[in-house]
Amino acid sequence: MQIFLDTADMDALKKFSRTGLIDGVTTNPSIIAHSGRDLKKTIGAICALIKGPVSAEVAACTADHMIHEAKVLRAIAENVVIKIPLTPEGLLACAALSAENIETNVTLCFSANQALLAAKAGATYISPFIGRLDDLGQDGMELIHDIRDIYDNYGFATQILAASIRSTAHVKQSAMAGADVVTIPPKIFEQLYHHPLTDKGLAAFEKDWAGTGQSIIE
Ligand code: G3P
Repeated sequence: MQIFLDTADMDALKKFSRTGLIDGVTTNPSIIAHSGRDLKKTIGAICALIKGPVSAEVAACTADHMIHEAKVLRAIAENVVIKIPLTPEGLLACAALSAENIETNVTLCFSANQALLAAKAGATYISPFIGRLDDLGQDGMELIHDIRDIYDNYGFATQILAASIRSTAHVKQSAMAGADVVTIPPKIFEQLYHHPLTDKGLAAFEKDWAGTGQSIIE
């Protein structure tokens, strides 16, 4: 499973890109607004740092306008993926961009039928929002399982990009459900490394090793 960071925080991206474990980045209009930075400059800076796919979202509502915006965003860098909302106009734009071999990430997916339509429109990625379904008392992870089954039934190449991830449990469950990608906030990425027994075990090893008085490097 690939791991993307769901952020426009350049400090976090610099910090975690050096792990070699980050395969791409996703952004959305809210993330850009919260960053307080210019969209195009920010996407350019992210693409210079991360060589994998970087999702930048269109703002328009009509297919023609979305396609126009997509061309502007794609001109920023080769690894820009065009993020498009799951609307009838969005899927028209998705199909047109897909026909031009421009990668797309269809976002705001909340049902298996929506994911089916996105795959038929040639989406490169589908972004089901797990946390927002959980917020409504629904089971967001069930949607990942359903989409996996449907895509496998028909051999759709569209990759399932689990989004709106709120916990490390969501990451594990997405991996077990067969998501192709998970996009996560930096703080959840950092939490993936940690377990209290790792910290406790390491403290004991360090103490015992110090007691031996030995040194590996003479
Ligand atoms: O990038 C889309 C998605 O990950 C949004 O997450 O936490 O705003 O529901 P959230």
